[in-house]
Amino acid sequence: MKKTFFRLVSIVLCVALLFGGAVSASADDVAAADKAFRISVAVNGDTATQRGFCWYSKENHKAKLTVSEAGVPVKEFTVEGFEWEGNFCYKQVVTGLAAGKEYTYSIDLEPGATASSNAVYGSFTTDNADDKVDFIAYADIQAGNLENFQKGADTVSAAFRTMPSAEFMLNMGDFTNDSTNEEWDYYAQVMDGINTTTTVAPVSGNHDGLGVWNWFNNLFCLDTSESVQTLNGVNYSFDYGNAHIAILNTNDVLSISLAQLKWLKNDMNSTDKDWKIVCMHKTPYTLGKDGKWPDALYLQKSLTKVLDACDVDLVLSGHDHQYLRTKPLTNNKIDDNGVTYVLCGTAGSKRYEVRTFLVNNFMKPEFIGMLNIQKKGFGNYWNGTDWESTRETNIGGCFNTVSIDGGTLTFNSYILQDDLDEQGIEAVNRPITNTDSFTLTKTTGQNKITFTGDNTTSEAEFYLGVIPSFCALAAYTFSNWLPKFFIMLPKLISVVAGGGSF
Ligand SMILES: [Fe+2]
Repeated sequence: MKKTFFRLVSIVLCVALLFGGAVSASADDVAAADKAFRISVAVNGDTATQRGFCWYSKENHKAKLTVSEAGVPVKEFTVEGFEWEGNFCYKQVVTGLAAGKEYTYSIDLEPGATASSNAVYGSFTTDNADDKVDFIAYADIQAGNLENFQKGADTVSAAFRTMPSAEFMLNMGDFTNDSTNEEWDYYAQVMDGINTTTTVAPVSGNHDGLGVWNWFNNLFCLDTSESVQTLNGVNYSFDYGNAHIAILNTNDVLSISLAQLKWLKNDMNSTDKDWKIVCMHKTPYTLGKDGKWPDALYLQKSLTKVLDACDVDLVLSGHDHQYLRTKPLTNNKIDDNGVTYVLCGTAGSKRYEVRTFLVNNFMKPEFIGMLNIQKKGFGNYWNGTDWESTRETNIGGCFNTVSIDGGTLTFNSYILQDDLDEQGIEAVNRPITNTDSFTLTKTTGQNKITFTGDNTTSEAEFYLGVIPSFCALAAYTFSNWLPKFFIMLPKLISVVAGGGSF
């Protein structure tokens, strides 16, 4: 009886110890499991001395951000998060860095605790402010599942293998398809490894916040002090090398507002950098499925006037999931000194074919410098006459590289072949095809600063301007777009009736 009693006590004690240990281990596991994710180091103000950090955690922490040079900590911050969509978001602007230096950093959610072993490490390099810069541009991964996010990440990795000297990457928007927590987690799972090795200049896409405003704004730490931050994107600008780059939000009810046009004009006139580049999600020139709607086409009428007037050299955009480059254009006419527009293709796997009914209606074929369709099953390109007879098999994720050296800008577009998945050929071993290449040249030192005032857009100016902006779009829609649409309609119907895409 006594023996049985002691046996029972022993069992109860063992169970209690095991249970207690399990609770303790569980708490440690929770702390240890929580580590920073969705990490981004974004351009923020002066790219030679500043960066904007943003990351997430599952639990709330007083996190420690340490920035080091040659292994020696030079900046330390305690950063508190705020709750966002069930996780905690952290933002920190780092200033006072030295130009042209490589920095490493660590993000430690629980400094001094067990979880500190789970600190996340990364690196970035500041601009050395000379007249050279290399960067990568890609668009529209827009994935909804892990497999397709991985294809997008494979494309971006291929971009950095192709241009290891890239100082930052421009993501032209539509990071995800439905902008859910699950999708942003997939994005982080495959992209954090890349994001922690470079600087990003993000462009907001129309899918980045779908249904939940401020998703995009809470993924990056950007300097939007000059232009009103909207719920579904931001406008901002920065210098890198001898280029001035402005980022536009084209995701409001209006693809571009009068307040944005004024901001852009002042912004482009406030720089004497040799190269002027504008980036935005929607595109004025396209043969994709969105090329038939007035919001994108309105850009041909409204935005291009400002770009022409400010001597912009290059416009990069996304949204329509095909690669298209125009010849240099001024006032919607071919002009050697005009603006070159590049629709950046898609780094992801959702690809749009040519809508032939747009040709000669909303898109003049003589404007096309290069057209490269990434459609599954074949790829075809514009040869100056047609695209149907130029089918090739260079299909896959598209990425672009830009290299500026003094008065020469060299642009290259590539495709990472992805139709080899079934054969088990890993992404790192798949062919990369150079599908377009062009060079722009200019005499440097010609740009003059002609605007020196305050370019801050007030909220009142922004919101009051919506009404005249809407009127301008409506006037364009009824007087310009609708008559052309009706002329195009029979061809559109005939293409769709023949099995073509709307
Ligand atoms: Fe889009």
